[in-house]
Order: sequence, then C-alpha cells, then structure tokens
Amino acid sequence: MFDLNKILRDNIKVLQPYTSARDEYKGTEGTFLDANENAFGSATSALHNRYPDPLQWEVKNALSAIKHISAENIFIGNGSDEAIDLLFRSFCRPGIDNAITTPPTYGMYEVSANINDIVLKKVFLSTDFELEVDNILEAIDENTKVILLCSPNNPTGNCLNTNAITKIITSFDGIVALDEAYIDFAANKSFLPILLQYPNLVIMQTFSKAWGMANLRLGIAFASKEIIAILNKVKPPYNINGLSQKLALEALQNEQKKNQYVENILKQRIWLASQLISMPFVIKIYPTDANFILVKTIDGNKIYNFLTDRVVIVRNRSAVKLIENCLRITVGTETENKLLIETLHQFALS
Ligand SMILES: Cc1ncc(COP(=O)(O)O)c(C=O)c1O
Repeated sequence: MFDLNKILRDNIKVLQPYTSARDEYKGTEGTFLDANENAFGSATSALHNRYPDPLQWEVKNALSAIKHISAENIFIGNGSDEAIDLLFRSFCRPGIDNAITTPPTYGMYEVSANINDIVLKKVFLSTDFELEVDNILEAIDENTKVILLCSPNNPTGNCLNTNAITKIITSFDGIVALDEAYIDFAANKSFLPILLQYPNLVIMQTFSKAWGMANLRLGIAFASKEIIAILNKVKPPYNINGLSQKLALEALQNEQKKNQYVENILKQRIWLASQLISMPFVIKIYPTDANFILVKTIDGNKIYNFLTDRVVIVRNRSAVKLIENCLRITVGTETENKLLIETLHQFALS
C-alpha cells in the first residue's frame, strides 16, 4: 500500500518552509513596505519591481480550466527539470535511496539523480522500446522511492504501453513520475483524466514543446494535493518569475494557437517521415508520437557530421545503447524540413 508519509524524507516531514512576504499578506491593493522591494520602479522600461505570486494561482486556475483538474493538484516549476529535482529531493535520501529509469530515455533523469546522489537503476526498454515490466518490478528494493517513465519517450518517440504503465503504478509503493512532455503530439491519451485514481502518480507536462515556450522555462506536475503541497514546500519561494507567469496566462488564453501548431507539426511529421524513409542510408524510421523522428542509419556519426558542417543540426544518438547509429530529428517548419531533406540528398550523392 502506498503511504506518502512513509516514503517522505524525515527532514522534509519536519521542514518549516520559507514564508515570503506575499504568503503572509495576499491582498493586491495597499502600500507594500513588507518585501524590501524598490518602491520607485525598475531599471527597465516596464515595471518589474514587485515579487511575483509564489504559487502562481492565476496560471494554475487557467490551467485547471483547460486540464479539468483542480488548481491544488497542479505544481508549476522552472521547467519540468525542477519537478524532477524536487521529487528526488523530497523522497530520496542521498546516498541511500534509489530510483529506476528505463533507458534509452530523457538524459536529465540520470543527471538529476547524480546531482542528488541518488543511485539510478537502469532497466532497459525492450528492442521495440516497450517497458520490461517484470524486470522493473524485480529491480525494486526497499530503498526504491521513484520510478521515472517517459511517454511518449524521448528519444525513441513512442508511447509506452498503457497497461504496462498502469501495472507499474499499481504494483509499486513509491512515486511513479510519468513524463508526458510530448503528449500533445500523441495518438494515445494522457493519464491525466485518471490521475486521482493513483495516489502515487505524478504526471509531468511542459510549456516547452506544443505550446512553443521553451525559452520561458515552465514545467508542470500534476499529482494528489498532498504531493503538490510537498513540492510547494520544498521549491524556492518565487520559482516562476512574474513575466513567465504573465506569458503563461496569455498562452493559456490562446489554446487554439497551440492546437494549430500541433496540427502543423503533425502534417510536417508525415511529410518528413515519407522523405526520410526513401533515403538510401536510412535503415529504419521508428513510429513516433512526438515532435521528432528517430531514424536508424548506416552511419550516424558520418551523417551527423555532414549535416553539422552545413549547419543543419540534429541530435546524434549513435552511441546510445539500443539506438546505435540513430539520429533524432526534430520536426521543423516546412522550409527547415525541406532544407534538411535537400542536405541529406547531397549526403547520399557524396
Ligand atoms: C521527456 C522530456 N521531459 C522534459 C523535458 C524538458 O522539459 P522542460 O523544458 O519543461 O524542462 C524534455 C526536453 O527535451 C523532454 O524531452
């Protein structure tokens, strides 16, 4: 049985969080002499002299309406990377506890675990990039606190099997963090509508992909109110700056723009795949539910270097186990994709 109190680190249980001036007085009108701000103004043309809302309620309320989940089930982080880091810091004792990932997957899970001195157990995906559920369950020991799953998975592009994800969530007494950064591009549905059936599930999404706002660093975690309260307690007080909050609100009021981007990217994805598959040096393109395509080639390094020399930059995954000689290609605009294909034709002739 999952027991949040049992897996929470003792120091976090007793932690008295920092209370900011804006936590203590929540009104918006008044003479604010409580936060040591510069009351005269800012060194910029627009005013930025006041601290932002530490809990970003306006953004969360707007997100709540779109995602059909209470604002109290939402955490907003400085990128999804902040949520990953906070999960490790809240639940894993450095040097003692461990987490499980399923490579090949998003590299930041391992970096974040290393930073936090958390042992990372790697249970590789199968050759068709599905979860090896039995191996994952076998890898769990008394100190395993977090399992990180990524669906659609980066860099393979596929959604993980839904029953396999569910089996892991229901068999594990720790936190399952399901990273859905690319879910807007997927045919499969998000786990979000059933999130609250699982007290140990944390779903991560981001403004960096479909919403087109990677520059602002806005990641989202959805979970039980109790888990969200823990993340809020551990995070830096003003983790999302006021400009990012303002722009996030603007984006959420323009959801149709995001939907249009997704539609365009999906169209371009089909075109790009159709071109790539006909290239003589392409062995295989993998099915994708994301805004990128993983391509198996006869010589990944050579193609990568040829493209880079012509300033067409893709991600070289040639040295990664299970995806040797693979390139991960982000779907660009029509012009960018055509340029890529033209350059690859030149490689074929070289
Ligand atoms: C699977 C996955 N999760 C999260 C992220 C990063 O998201 P953010 O920009 O919100 O930190 C990426 C970025 O490439 C990703 O591939």
